[in-house]
Amino acid sequence: MPQDFIEKKLKELKDKGLYRSLNLVDSPQKPRIKINGKEYILLCSNNYLGLANHPKIKEAAINAIKKYGVGAGGARLVSGNMKPHRELEERIAKFKKTESSLVFNSGYHANLGIISALVGRGDFVFSDKLNHASIVDGCLLSGAEFKRYPHKDISVLEDLLKKHSRLTTRNSRLIITDGVFSMDGDIAPLKDILNLAEKYNAMLMIDDAHGTGVLGKNGRGTLEHLGIKNKDIIQMGTFGKAIGTFGAYAAGSKKLIDYLINKARPFIYTTALPPAICSASISAIDIIEKQPQIRKDLWDRVRYFIKGLKDAGIETSGETQIIPIIIGNAKKAVDISKKLFEKGVFVQAIRPPAVPEGTARLRITLMANHSWDDLEYALETIKETVANFA
Ligand SMILES: Cc1ncc(COP(=O)(O)O)c(C=O)c1O
Repeated sequence: MPQDFIEKKLKELKDKGLYRSLNLVDSPQKPRIKINGKEYILLCSNNYLGLANHPKIKEAAINAIKKYGVGAGGARLVSGNMKPHRELEERIAKFKKTESSLVFNSGYHANLGIISALVGRGDFVFSDKLNHASIVDGCLLSGAEFKRYPHKDISVLEDLLKKHSRLTTRNSRLIITDGVFSMDGDIAPLKDILNLAEKYNAMLMIDDAHGTGVLGKNGRGTLEHLGIKNKDIIQMGTFGKAIGTFGAYAAGSKKLIDYLINKARPFIYTTALPPAICSASISAIDIIEKQPQIRKDLWDRVRYFIKGLKDAGIETSGETQIIPIIIGNAKKAVDISKKLFEKGVFVQAIRPPAVPEGTARLRITLMANHSWDDLEYALETIKETVANFA
């Protein structure tokens, strides 16, 4: 009986503290949000720069709806390729300083599409163990041999590359890493990884979902932050986080983009993004470039929060706006999250399979427009609650 089977599986999840349910937010993604009529300090949104509710970006979307309507009506390769899609791709290429770019419907689509277009059966893909789930799924979908190296462990990566270097064509090996790790908030050692990619003739792809808009002098992301300029790196990122809208991109050479248009199935076989969301993304990138103060506001808050935790003896791997506190046990992480919620602070407990077994955590994320008073209250409340559960 399917119902019995489902009930049994749900019970298993509940028993392990892994059951998930949806919260219903009844306000924009602001530093304070409304859930069930009550206001909470929001500490688990990826709207890092506060752009998801920015008046200029909303205006750009509304104007585009007036001009182009709501839906794209078809896939990009059929009738859905509209002017805002092209304009956004040109804007992204200019922002990322690449020859070209291609818009995908989400980061999940982009990772599935790019990875499975670049490698396939008989090839190798080397992936950091803490890479995002969409990368893992892209690697599995590709059919390539999937080699995972321990988090940021360059020497194991080198051993793996050495071992699988008998193949001679460049297309046979792909290294892929998050720029900023989504659940850990630390930054990949990209200079070392790039050296290995060059030494062992492998392609290198970076998922900059959490670096774009946040890292680097101009917000261009992890490569800018680390001073890396290399035309061969395949860059991917999303619009749903610091950019505050929705969708994703691949950025790189013209040849790469031409290839993806022809080979990336999650790009080909899906209705194009609504044009207005592309216009909104363009407006957000303009703001990111023209208003560095927003990024500075975020980083001031990041430094304050990390220092506050460390001073209280709470360890975190976070060196960016993503600041995890590892709790370990999934049920305990949920209990702490519930207690914080009762006290008006909304931080989700992140549990397996989103993170490795035994590393359930509070994943705190900061926004540039959090008020200092709210942050101080949240920090004190977290310190006190975590200590009570120790
Ligand atoms: C590192 C990383 N890559 C890809 C994605 C997927 O992006 P999207 O939410 O646009 O599907 C996410 C976010 O969920 C992410 O954290």
